[in-house]
Amino acid sequence: MEIKALGCEPLSLRRVFIKDGHTLDVYKKDGGYKSLEKALGMTQDAIIQEVKDSALRGRGGAGFPTGMKWSFVPRDSPKPKYIVCNADESEPGSFKDRYLMEYDPHALIEGMIIAGYTLGSNTGYIYGRGEYRYLLDIMDVAIKEAHDAGILGPKVLGNKNFSFDLHTHTGAGAYICGEETALLSSLEGYRGHPRMKPPFPAIEGLYASPTIVNNVETFTSIPQIIDMGGIKWRDLGTEKSGGTKLWSISGHVKKPGVYELPMGYADMEKFIMQDCGGMLRDDKKLKAVIPGGSSVYIMNAGQILGKNVTLDYEGLVAAGSMLGTGGMMVMDETVDIMESTKNLTEFYKHESCGWCTPCREGTDWLVKIFNRISIGEGRPEDAQLMLDICDNIEGKSFCPLGDAAAWPIQSAIKQFPGDFKKWLFDNTNTNGTQPNV
Ligand SMILES: Cc1cc2nc3c(=O)[nH]c(=O)nc-3n(C[C@H](O)[C@H](O)[C@H](O)COP(=O)(O)O)c2cc1C
Repeated sequence: MEIKALGCEPLSLRRVFIKDGHTLDVYKKDGGYKSLEKALGMTQDAIIQEVKDSALRGRGGAGFPTGMKWSFVPRDSPKPKYIVCNADESEPGSFKDRYLMEYDPHALIEGMIIAGYTLGSNTGYIYGRGEYRYLLDIMDVAIKEAHDAGILGPKVLGNKNFSFDLHTHTGAGAYICGEETALLSSLEGYRGHPRMKPPFPAIEGLYASPTIVNNVETFTSIPQIIDMGGIKWRDLGTEKSGGTKLWSISGHVKKPGVYELPMGYADMEKFIMQDCGGMLRDDKKLKAVIPGGSSVYIMNAGQILGKNVTLDYEGLVAAGSMLGTGGMMVMDETVDIMESTKNLTEFYKHESCGWCTPCREGTDWLVKIFNRISIGEGRPEDAQLMLDICDNIEGKSFCPLGDAAAWPIQSAIKQFPGDFKKWLFDNTNTNGTQPNV
């Protein structure tokens, strides 16, 4: 596993490289909690403006502007407000948040306290998947350290007007519980079903109270932004995609790992083919990349090689995919895209919470078709059939898990028609007509 920053000083990864950087002592010696001190001397509007100026977009996948989300929280609500950290990290291909919690737990705590102060909240929760209990244990040790030092608790850093407490909560390892409203249901003790939006959590979230849900990397960016100032932080990246971003890269690169890159890094080909160890494993050819975690469109090599794709939100959309969580999965020429897409679809079927019909039934049908194809019983019309089913899931399911299940299939059939044709024709059931792919 490689952990390094390229094209910038390590910022989010900074304390990975500092011995005992996860402890309060070392964190404070390294400037930790200075941003909180600074924030406590600022008005809440000024903090929100800094976050807006930073062009920070949520790092949990959807990329919603954080400053804007924070500004939706009603100031005059008589209800308590909550700050919730989404540490579920269940998107296949994404494994960045775990390093932040392991090596820099106090940065997450600091970011959440600043959010609490800004939004008038006294309580925060860190929700992690069951498999991440060991990380939540690390968070609990850091929370206790911060409490004992008067950083958390009734008077945050001696400020008698602001108290903030933080708790960890373990889920059971369901992908759906990373969806913010399902997470809130689970946190309340209910089954992790998503909720209707609107109302959005900022208005009606945990216990029907105003709630901000942000990803781990989003919160850990907040102390950096307050320290540097929003505009300076934004300028590390691009005007619309501010700051630096963690990428978790896996698959057939020689050096998989977590890399911190400035937003707008040029370019994707260089990153995959040179920075991550030089060429692919066994010097094979690049075939496909899923750039942002499994829930984004798969790209073929022709969309990347020689195309100067910049690694930011806009660059990846222009290239035909999305940045998502930055969980980049690289596949070489040995991969059969029908099989890799089948594998992902099995994941979505397993993880569909069953709440809504299009997602529950649709993912089940898709897996049945993939199973039939994979035993040599594919039919020429199967590609179109799968596209029709995807069309009945995309935009029609209760929450975006349905879209996430449809996009890999739609893009795989579009970008890799040959990998499907081969399976739909070369079998005993075909009548020899051309499949519609
Ligand atoms: C099925 C599904 C799973 C998700 N899983 C995660 C996750 O594990 N971690 C996360 O931060 N966001 C996840 N999200 C996105 C959250 O719903 C939400 O957008 C995010 O936590 C907001 O934080 P951000 O604005 O800081 O990105 C998921 C979304 C969906 C639809």
